[in-house]
Amino acid sequence: MITRADLLRSGAARLDAAGIAAAAGDARALLRWASGLSGAGFSISLRDAPGPGEDAAFRAAIDARVARRPVSQIIGTRMFWGRDFKVTCDVLDPRPETEVLIAAALDGPVPARILDLGVGSGCILLTLLAEWPDVRGVGVDASPAALAVAADNAGRLGLADRADLRLGDWAEGLEGPFDLVVSNPPYIAEAEMPGLAPEVRDWEPRMALTPGGDGLGAYRVIAAALPRLLSPGGRAVLEVGAGQDCAVAALLQNAGLGAARTHPDFDGRGRTVEARRI
Ligand SMILES: C[S@@+](CC[C@H](N)C(=O)[O-])C[C@H]1O[C@@H](n2cnc3c(N)ncnc32)[C@H](O)[C@@H]1O
Repeated sequence: MITRADLLRSGAARLDAAGIAAAAGDARALLRWASGLSGAGFSISLRDAPGPGEDAAFRAAIDARVARRPVSQIIGTRMFWGRDFKVTCDVLDPRPETEVLIAAALDGPVPARILDLGVGSGCILLTLLAEWPDVRGVGVDASPAALAVAADNAGRLGLADRADLRLGDWAEGLEGPFDLVVSNPPYIAEAEMPGLAPEVRDWEPRMALTPGGDGLGAYRVIAAALPRLLSPGGRAVLEVGAGQDCAVAALLQNAGLGAARTHPDFDGRGRTVEARRI
């Protein structure tokens, strides 16, 4: 009899042979998803035979992972700040670094109205709305497909009535004031794109990764709009790429915002820049 443990071993070996760094962990995540079992239920079932269709679903998932499709896109979800978000090839896979932005935002006063520029899956806006039950928010994205994923996530999390999702080009046509503006815009420089991991470069939407040029183009547009969008004393909290914190802080200060400071990520690098309209 073939057991789940046998499947796990052969799947991990295939991923390892394909050069996937986290072969064992990825194989386990994919088999657990294929089994439909919860964490504890899965762990105690490894000596059991797979259920109907599980073997085929797992092998197809391993094939997709060998083709470098990210695990989150294969299983369709990613856990972010303790909640599951639907993930497709139309949105950026929510990153752990972005939880630094969430922590920085939650550390300030509770806003009445939030704006999220480049809402993607909705992981930032919807997390903040879930953490602040009386707050309303607007989420903007230039991708209709990404907005559909954000709307799906808003519905699953019971937040659709407080999340106003709009198709748009950054702040164009938006009316303030907002007490908090958050954004994780595309920030990878054009020249860095070819060197990205295949999981990112070949499977995530290009418009979620790079604005082209030096990678700072979206910050220039957003910084220029912030004085108009923010209420007096309102805060902007932006995720930045590694090494971009000083340049983005300077853009915010040049736009007239004050008290710019950076928040480090888990590796100690400044990955979130915060500033206030004085
Ligand atoms: C880095 S992703 C961030 C997604 C999500 N907020 C997150 O943190 O995972 C950037 C998002 O900006 C959107 N975007 C790119 N250009 C845009 C534009 N001109 N106006 C509005 N959104 C844009 C992309 O479609 C993408 O969803």
